[in-house]
Amino acid sequence: MKHTPRICASAEHRTEAWRSIGRATLGGIAACGLAGLAALAQAATPLPDSPAIESEAAALLGRLTLNEELELLGGVDGMYTRAAPSIGLLRLKMSDASAGVRNWGPSTSYAGGVALAATWDRDYARQLGESLGGDARARGVQFLLGPGVNIARSPVAGRNFEYLSEDPFLNATLVVPYIEGVQSRGVVATVKHFALNNQEFDRHNVSADVDERTLREIYLPAFEAAVREAHVDAVMNAYNLVNGEHATENASLNLAILKGEWGFTGLLMSDWDATYDTVAAANHGLDLEMPSPRFLNAAALLPAIDKGLVQRATIDDKVLRLLRVALRYGFLPSPLKPAAPARIETADSAYSIADRAVALRGALESLTLLKNDGPLLPLDRNQIKTIAVIGPNAYPAVTGGGGSSFTQAFDPVSSLSGIAEFLGPSVRVLYDPGLPGLYDVFRDTHWLGPVTMATYRGDHFGGTPRLATVNTIDNAPQEGLSEPDPNPRSIRYHGRYRAGLAGRYWVLATASAWDGDHLDVFVDGRRLAVPIHVEAQIPPAWPITLAAGQEIDVVADYLPRFAGVRSGLGIAYEPNLVTARAKQIAALADATVVAAGFTKDTEGEGADRSFALPWGQDALIEAIAAANPRTIVTLTGGVGADTRAWLDRVPALIDLYYPGQEGGTALAEILFGQHAPEGKLPVTFDRSWEDSASYRYYYPAGDAPRPGAITHVRYDDGLLVGYRYWTSKGRHPLFPFGFGLSYTRFKFSNLKVPTYASSRGPIEVTVDVENTGTVAGAEVAQLYVSDPSAPVERPERELKGFVKLRLEPGETKPVVFSLDRRSFSYWDMNSHAWTVAPGKFVIRVGDSSEDTPLSAELRVTD
Ligand code: BGC
Repeated sequence: MKHTPRICASAEHRTEAWRSIGRATLGGIAACGLAGLAALAQAATPLPDSPAIESEAAALLGRLTLNEELELLGGVDGMYTRAAPSIGLLRLKMSDASAGVRNWGPSTSYAGGVALAATWDRDYARQLGESLGGDARARGVQFLLGPGVNIARSPVAGRNFEYLSEDPFLNATLVVPYIEGVQSRGVVATVKHFALNNQEFDRHNVSADVDERTLREIYLPAFEAAVREAHVDAVMNAYNLVNGEHATENASLNLAILKGEWGFTGLLMSDWDATYDTVAAANHGLDLEMPSPRFLNAAALLPAIDKGLVQRATIDDKVLRLLRVALRYGFLPSPLKPAAPARIETADSAYSIADRAVALRGALESLTLLKNDGPLLPLDRNQIKTIAVIGPNAYPAVTGGGGSSFTQAFDPVSSLSGIAEFLGPSVRVLYDPGLPGLYDVFRDTHWLGPVTMATYRGDHFGGTPRLATVNTIDNAPQEGLSEPDPNPRSIRYHGRYRAGLAGRYWVLATASAWDGDHLDVFVDGRRLAVPIHVEAQIPPAWPITLAAGQEIDVVADYLPRFAGVRSGLGIAYEPNLVTARAKQIAALADATVVAAGFTKDTEGEGADRSFALPWGQDALIEAIAAANPRTIVTLTGGVGADTRAWLDRVPALIDLYYPGQEGGTALAEILFGQHAPEGKLPVTFDRSWEDSASYRYYYPAGDAPRPGAITHVRYDDGLLVGYRYWTSKGRHPLFPFGFGLSYTRFKFSNLKVPTYASSRGPIEVTVDVENTGTVAGAEVAQLYVSDPSAPVERPERELKGFVKLRLEPGETKPVVFSLDRRSFSYWDMNSHAWTVAPGKFVIRVGDSSEDTPLSAELRVTD
């Protein structure tokens, strides 16, 4: 195969070249090397299903013994399928996922997940998919374990940042080009987590109990589009249960819907250790147990087959699916499609300047300006002699959230370095993290006398402990302690603390259920909330109020899961948390950026997170805003955080989501007006957690679940997720879904909707959008459909179309939306099918779920 380099800039021009690639692609012009990339895509594109593939797969299956077949039902070495040497099938390599290729070394880290959704850009979704596919190929990866498309039902769900949005149409629309992009590079995309992984707390035991209509209208459309439109070749089942059955054993989801109704012909794999039963998983659709066959193995399956509990044909079908995919992608040498070229010959580069431009594009398109009083932004770089960049998220770069999606980024650009590089040496850039680190707090906590540390054998704090005294509780995490402790211990710390001044204090700790350790903290015998089953701070952090001179008794019960000790505990007086230097540099700067929000340590897979910002950040923002009225707050995180303490005191707020490795560069370009912000919220930004649509239905009623017991979460918020709730109730969140400011203004006019139309469609709706401001910018025209005459209750409005467009100042462009039958349908519980109720519909167009200046009626006939 001819080598087609992906790096299209010569070394000398690299730095500038990659930036201009980014800008060129934003303008709709494809990146350099187009011809080369097209050739590559052709070479890599999988073959479609065909009778020839089917007969070859059947022939290969015929050559396998039953034992060899069973071998293929489980993974190996963490990230591989197993090989079948007798037919030349090598083991196939996998990697996570949505925001970069996580495994097998450093990689380009992109604006993925919720940041991708904030771009509202199908072209970027395609380009992201292609880049991820290329990155995967360059690492010899055959299965990319993404995208994740679960609905952002609650702002505290730990993996929202990895997923897309709260809206099924937006998810379904973006997932198609994304998957097509990945698969066009000869890499199998794996849409996940099927289905209803909308929470992280107790994720192995939680049952998402949902009614049929809500399932169909809200939670399944993105999976359906992935299968039916994008022809995704792998699906990953979720950890959780759905209506009382584990996803990996859920016949209704896996057999009736996915493989039956949607005709999925690819491979259904489990999430890692998400298989819980041999016969149920085998019979109810699971094809591959990852990462190893604890249940789908010969020892368990052979007797089940002998007893007639599992049919041989069921096993054959699973293996056929793997063979079919392997043949279509050329993972298995065959005359139909030669094996994919060996890594050295691929045109994909592990380090790619072109991909860096894609990462910049994603960050530029996703950063969302939520508030801009004054307007303070854009800042005039000629007026800025000194700028202060403050906050825990200013440096190092916060590229992604925590867990299996976290990518070790190449050259990540922090907000601090992005701003400093943009401004150059003539501007003074002052930096301070603003808050102490966690371990600084542990070390600086002055206990009244020594703390006793009692270590008990076993995990029950029973028997005679080994006693020791310590001055501080600050055992730093030790590397390499990933094996469970073979000799379980329980450790009780006991100390006394005296509050010098009256006010709010933070009790801060490490060790959490996050990594399997467990820590309970008691103040004067009262237990502070356990952070696993409820919305809570990670690492654990609890505010308490103390009187001047008050003494408290603090007990920390710690159950280490690993051989080493990783516990830490400290108490900090909130008014003293913010560093003096941060306040000083803010006061003397011409403008200040406070980089706040979540990070991979405070938001990630395996636990939900708090709606409140991590400890100390409210106080930091308040203090900096008091020191400098020209303060811009940036937030990282999946969408939503409590801003009530300070929002009315800061003129500007930008949501960065997790912007990938080029976030700092994009932020600087936006702050100084080189690029007008264009991101739009893909998730409603609530005022408070209690205010959010899912609040009353998100956690199971009653106490924290017993370990291992099934917890039922009833999705009684039904269809009213996110903006569907707010608009149906006629109330207003802090910032609505679809909202985002620009440096220019747009005017919508000339809405044309036919008076009558058949629901069979396609129905054309047109509108003109004009840039009435003085700078170029991008706008997302959003179309919402209302069905006021429906015989069933429907959300007040639902997104059914969107178009992103770029406009020069004064320019007007027409936008064409195409509606089809699904645009008007609801899921009918009687016929168990999509149904249109003919009659009056209202079409609304605007640039957020709440700001729809144009509307028109349409009568839809059957
Ligand atoms: C995650 C999956 C991921 C897998 C492999 C699991 O913990 O839930 O999304 O693909 O690990 O890393």
